[in-house]
Amino acid sequence: MSYLGFDLGTSGLRALLVDDLGVPIGAAERSYQATHSQPGWSEQDPAKWIEALESAVEELRQQFPAFAGLRGIAVAGHMHGATLLDNQNNVLRPCILWNDTRSHLQAARLDAMHNVRQLSGNIVFPGFTAPKLEWVRENEPALFAKVAKVLLPAAYLNLYLTGDHVADLSDSAGTSWLDVGERCWSEELLAASHMRLDQMPRLVEGSQAAGQLRGALATKWGLTRPVAVAGGAGDNAAAACGIGALHDGQGFVSLGTSGVLLTARNGYHPAPETAVHTFCHAVPNRWYQMGVMLSATDSLNWLSQITNISPAQLTAALGDQLTAPSPTRFLPYLSGERTPHNDALIRGGFTGLSAGTSREDLTQSVLEGVAFGLRDSYEALCETGADLEALIAIGGGTGSRYWLKVLATVLGVPLQLPVGGEFGAALGAARLGLMADTGQAAEEIVVAPKIAEVIEPEQRHRAAFDEAYKAFRQAYAGLKAIQ
Ligand code: XUL
Repeated sequence: MSYLGFDLGTSGLRALLVDDLGVPIGAAERSYQATHSQPGWSEQDPAKWIEALESAVEELRQQFPAFAGLRGIAVAGHMHGATLLDNQNNVLRPCILWNDTRSHLQAARLDAMHNVRQLSGNIVFPGFTAPKLEWVRENEPALFAKVAKVLLPAAYLNLYLTGDHVADLSDSAGTSWLDVGERCWSEELLAASHMRLDQMPRLVEGSQAAGQLRGALATKWGLTRPVAVAGGAGDNAAAACGIGALHDGQGFVSLGTSGVLLTARNGYHPAPETAVHTFCHAVPNRWYQMGVMLSATDSLNWLSQITNISPAQLTAALGDQLTAPSPTRFLPYLSGERTPHNDALIRGGFTGLSAGTSREDLTQSVLEGVAFGLRDSYEALCETGADLEALIAIGGGTGSRYWLKVLATVLGVPLQLPVGGEFGAALGAARLGLMADTGQAAEEIVVAPKIAEVIEPEQRHRAAFDEAYKAFRQAYAGLKAIQ
């Protein structure tokens, strides 16, 4: 028997096939891009997700005979995106993504409304789904009138896989339409942004069966037995399942397109005033909290684009030994920021440039600026009572040892590096597919990976990085004053 997890990311899709113990068999990846037609806009054509999914499945089918024994599937998706469908399930416009900040005015208006933070447990950030629909209502009214269903990216793939409008709770928690404590749609929140319950998908827990793979797809993929499709998850909840984070004190720091510091919570402890996100976990009766920065590896990718040198080459030039903080500060707000500032309009900057500043100095300050941004999330999470004594480090940015050392030292937290292999959102999704089919408990399946190595904070540089973090906070205040 085998299980399939899809990680529908911002820059590509990863499909991972595992066996009935959750051990990886093989993976396939496809990439695509987001379009940024105006400053602050970020959109994607959902047809690209289906193309990527079909082509990755074709590769897995060809390469791994175990695919024929498929019994369960789940999708993890980049969160908050608004995929708008008419009553024939046609996509009405490109999906507006999580890192699109055009709806900041609508978000601020919703956020100020009575009961909205109390029910949703969160600030209404511009990246969340509800303000996007308000923007469409105000700017594309004819199109808004045709909206029969709003699906998050993962739920759109659930529709493709099952033929049903069905979403999981962890992803739905990022819409500002969910009562996150009660784990159900809130008619009061929906009404606040002119939406109706019938425009929402049915809700299931991420590890629960949402339906079965459509007959036409099963035939096309050469499958003869029924295949369960789980509710799936938002990508961060799925990554938490991939690294075994179910309980208080278990969490990760992710250096991906976005930077995320996440910790699982046994109970529901919303703290919207801290700009921390509090969402349902992908398994029943669990929640998680996270701080989110919008441009983590995206900051390094930006430097790479303008220098025409790959991110790996840029970081390799710094070597592996941590040095004192750079006198140059980088403020990583290329697309605005969520935690802790909730500021869609702020933009990034460098301070402390001199005639002698080299390309390596800029790289170092970019890595440090992202680490300081994550320290902001760390401070915000600590205020909610979260326990962050050790974190597993995941995401593309962990390929740089220098970056890991900076991050461990800036946070003052040991970073655990899993043994090479799978431990991200695709594995978390495959685990959800397995649970949906077998009914096994999360505690049996959602386990921590073996740790290969721990990157300890470097005590000799701690004080200097604490000072540099203070300077970073001041630089933010200065930047804010002039923008
Ligand atoms: C979380 C968020 C991002 C996306 C990116 O709130 O917006 O982490 O899920 O994948």
